[in-house]
Amino acid sequence: MLPPLINQPHSVQTSATYGKKFKFLSFARQSISEPASTGAVAPSSRYLVERVIRMADVTSAQAVVELGPGTGAFTEQIQHHLADNASFFALEVNKTFADATQQRCPDVRVYHDAADQLPKYLKKNNLPSCDLIISSLPWTIFESAEQDRLLDTIAMSLKPGGIFISIVYLGATARVRGRYFINSLPLHFKSIQKSKTVWQNLPPTQVYRCSN
Ligand SMILES: C[S@@+](CC[C@H](N)C(=O)[O-])C[C@H]1O[C@@H](n2cnc3c(N)ncnc32)[C@H](O)[C@@H]1O
Repeated sequence: MLPPLINQPHSVQTSATYGKKFKFLSFARQSISEPASTGAVAPSSRYLVERVIRMADVTSAQAVVELGPGTGAFTEQIQHHLADNASFFALEVNKTFADATQQRCPDVRVYHDAADQLPKYLKKNNLPSCDLIISSLPWTIFESAEQDRLLDTIAMSLKPGGIFISIVYLGATARVRGRYFINSLPLHFKSIQKSKTVWQNLPPTQVYRCSN
């Protein structure tokens, strides 16, 4: 039987520290103290996580990277769906978030570093490339040159046929940097699919699935 798509938290995750309240409070605090990199007011909802996990086909991947795990909403479920022999690590630029994800998912390698350091961490994990990158990076905050560099790094880090998943908040197209990101995707990937809007998320969000 296939595992449930969203697993019930096990004992570590049900501890008081990692209760729902903590995740929301921790997230909200960081969105106030680190607005330039957090890019959201709340962690992703289980509905959005479920959509991402479905579109990413995590179970088939051998080497998975997560960019911007925040408090670990995706991390926990990526780990749950990972094939037994698959590699997985996450890069988080905010120390408070990196620590929170590490505590929530003690078996995952969570590095406190920026997403553009991805090649360094692939090397560190003896991986020439990866076949799935799941990102919830706040692209609308990044300047165009930074987006170009990061998308180059991501595309170059994927195996041929590899998949890049990115969440994009509804309303991103109303912002210059949001439009820049969406219009840049075809320059880096051969095929791009967009999900329907997940309305049960704050803010409502679409998921882009790109492959090279
Ligand atoms: C919109 S939040 C998403 C958090 C979480 N994945 C979720 O969905 O609840 C964006 C996350 O990306 C992180 N981030 C921003 N810039 C980053 C960078 N250059 N490298 C790695 N992480 C970054 C932020 O600290 C934050 O945790």
